[in-house]
Amino acid sequence: MKTERSLDNVTAVVLAAGLGTRMKTNLPKVLHGLGSETLLGKIVSNLKKAGIDDIIAVVGYKAEIIEKLFNDRVRFVRQPELLGSGDAVGHAVDFLNDSEGSVLVTCGDTPLISPESYTRLINEHFTKKADCTLMTSHRDDPTSYGRILRAEDGAVVGIIEEKDADDQQAKIKEVNVGAYCFDQVSLKKYIRDIKMNKNKEEYYLTDIIEILVDEKKNIFSVSCGKDETIGINSRQDLAEAHRIINLKKNNELMDNGVTIMAPENTFIDEHSEVGKDTVVLPGCVIEKDVKIGKNCRIGPHAHIREGSVIGDDVIVGNFAELCRVEVGNGCRIKHHCYLGDAKLGEAVNIGAGVITANYDGKNKNLTEIGSYASIGVGTCLVAPVKIGRSAVTGAGSVVPKNKDVPEGITVAGSPAKAIKSKQGA
Ligand code: UD1
Ligand code: MG
Repeated sequence: MKTERSLDNVTAVVLAAGLGTRMKTNLPKVLHGLGSETLLGKIVSNLKKAGIDDIIAVVGYKAEIIEKLFNDRVRFVRQPELLGSGDAVGHAVDFLNDSEGSVLVTCGDTPLISPESYTRLINEHFTKKADCTLMTSHRDDPTSYGRILRAEDGAVVGIIEEKDADDQQAKIKEVNVGAYCFDQVSLKKYIRDIKMNKNKEEYYLTDIIEILVDEKKNIFSVSCGKDETIGINSRQDLAEAHRIINLKKNNELMDNGVTIMAPENTFIDEHSEVGKDTVVLPGCVIEKDVKIGKNCRIGPHAHIREGSVIGDDVIVGNFAELCRVEVGNGCRIKHHCYLGDAKLGEAVNIGAGVITANYDGKNKNLTEIGSYASIGVGTCLVAPVKIGRSAVTGAGSVVPKNKDVPEGITVAGSPAKAIKSKQGA
């Protein structure tokens, strides 16, 4: 049996119908990428991490694309005309499962609100038995955000949008983050009392606060860090969000013993790991689900793509690109190369300009290189192919597919032929 104020009884409503006009985009704004996720994807996963399973996304602009991508994770409500955040919530309230309970409304363009902050918002709402609890934050530059209006005793009395703010109100630095918890009964009762804003001809969700205040309802607030507040309305905002998540990840890694020489221009996806005493030089891009071991030296300007796993004591140098590659301990991959779909044993040496030709136009094929093998500069390994343990390829060799090089053999030429046997005979 659900109790009224329990996490089981919270539905989240994500406002994702907007056009994203200021982004100047043909893509729904919430589908823009942030690291390896989309704005909406990140919000949905953070809500789930906060323990909310029932999520409604209000969609409008190019709704079908969003519905197709997210239909396994959220329910959808369509907003027929984009008449503002208040109108969007007005459509969602008819689709809430329970007649009681709480509704967490969050904008679809504020992807950095952490699961912990959602949890704090809900807990405060429950503890205070509030009708509405707001998430606020202080920003040095509050431009473009709704400002929080408080009475002398500190009580929240309203939110004023930038366009409607007078000079005094515009100076307020406490802003509306765009996440709110409502008591469902109050939300349903008052959501349609919001009047159309004359300046923008939209129904502002934020106007509900004044209505609730007039009805003597209980309104509380929680605050969150300014790095969580960013609402992505423009490409500049998106760049700022990338900067924030990038520095957060790099700081976490540095706290755990990784040297990152230039954190501002080193990009390590938040879903990747780097081991202690590894040094990451400037200009590296390390994508999601990558694991790098201890004592490695990566970069400058190395691109390590999704799913690569690198052991300990490995060097990956200038302009190396690795994609779905498993690299054993002690390998040297020092300059200008492309390794895709490859598996390297231990202490393999990869010369400058080596390429694994992994794609034959239809399939991605595997290259396996045994421990202690040395692949000469400019070698092209056409996959699928296996290079044996301690084998050597001469400079400029082309090893055709399925022409495996046995253990200890040296090959050279195009197509590569054995020039030295294991015993050097
Ligand atoms: C909104 C808040 C502002 C807050 C800021 C935080 C309002 C009126 N203002 O402003 O107080 O400081 O977010 O980032 O809410 N949307 C719909 N349907 C619509 C219009 C918008 O679903 O008809 C969605 C958008 O897709 C977006 C969200 O609502 O995800 C907020 O809309 P947006 O236009 O970005 O509002 P802001 O001006 O950022
Ligand atoms: Mg916005």
